[in-house]
Amino acid sequence: MSYEGVNRKLEHIEIALREDVEGPLTTWFECVYLIHKAVPELDLDDIDISTEFVGRRLRAPIIVSGMTGGAPETEKINAELAKVAEVLGLGLGVGSQRQAIENESLRSTYSVVREYAPTTLVLANIGISEFIRYDISLIDKIVNMVSADALAIHLNVAQELVQPEGSHSFKGFIRKLEVVMEELSVPIVVKEVGFGISKEVAEELVGVGVSHFDVAGAGGTNWAKIEMLRARYRKDKLKERLALELLRWGIPTAASILEVWTAAPNSEIIASGGIRTALDVVKALRLGASAVGLALPLLRAYYSGTLVEYLDGLVKSVKALFLLTGSRNINELRGKPIVVYDPLNTWITQRGLKIP
Ligand SMILES: Cc1cc2nc3c(=O)[nH]c(=O)nc-3n(C[C@H](O)[C@H](O)[C@H](O)COP(=O)(O)O)c2cc1C
Repeated sequence: MSYEGVNRKLEHIEIALREDVEGPLTTWFECVYLIHKAVPELDLDDIDISTEFVGRRLRAPIIVSGMTGGAPETEKINAELAKVAEVLGLGLGVGSQRQAIENESLRSTYSVVREYAPTTLVLANIGISEFIRYDISLIDKIVNMVSADALAIHLNVAQELVQPEGSHSFKGFIRKLEVVMEELSVPIVVKEVGFGISKEVAEELVGVGVSHFDVAGAGGTNWAKIEMLRARYRKDKLKERLALELLRWGIPTAASILEVWTAAPNSEIIASGGIRTALDVVKALRLGASAVGLALPLLRAYYSGTLVEYLDGLVKSVKALFLLTGSRNINELRGKPIVVYDPLNTWITQRGLKIP
């Protein structure tokens, strides 16, 4: 390693905290309307927003998206995120575990999550390029390091292409996936990082047996923006230009949920990428997600000392919105009427998507 890698993780956090790293695309949740039910015939105590992902029950359908680990300073962040996830009954992912594979001494920056979150959903994490390169014993090691319930593989192709030190080699993923899925003891979640997953990609993945997705669509944290800023600091004009060209690239999160749901209606879908409000959460669930993931707002809440209040407030607001749609649980929410505006409506028609 890889001092370079450790540095990179810290630079990402610093930029994400300090700069505007979202947009210019939006999630398109603003194109989705749920209908207010003035006579819900429900008490707030009747509402159950719990869900299941890879067989783990979550008290609320919220997952702390994988962000960090791999630098000594990040152990505290992961410990705190895990503590809060455990207390509130939420799921939790760690950031790419590549650093710990390259340097054993960094293991605890990831494994700390199981110490503080012994019973809730924990997702291991590795990028597409490493997944293609690593043999099964290394992949096992990644899962065991955090006693994970599933392994998230992040498809960060667009990010790698614009990163000064990024990989350019992505061939052989589907074949590797087939082989690893035969041998691995836990399910695989195929995850994007902010550019979304299309119907065609989901179909290909379903074809080799994938049944868990995290769409991580466009409209939230934008990796082209983060890498553009890093390139600018380093005065790497070519990478800055490349990143600039990708600022508006990607599938908005609301569209990506429907893309994946259309291709894989029986799969479990995490919706992430720009989930910022309780209304976003409820809309994502209505469009077919089993749970949502948030990254940037939780990193910022951690640094401002408001993580518990933020998540607690989100959970309570989601419950209130369930009541206002007249839904006792996620199953009932799925049957509620919606109105879909453009541009999402045209996207749905032209792409031949279905709405659950
Ligand atoms: C600082 C930071 C680091 C991240 N690192 C990872 C990572 O290592 N692995 C991964 O799969 N996703 C990573 N992500 C992406 C998030 O998991 C998520 O998919 C994406 O940020 C969209 O969610 P958001 O709009 O709520 O931030 C990272 C996000 C942030 C903000």
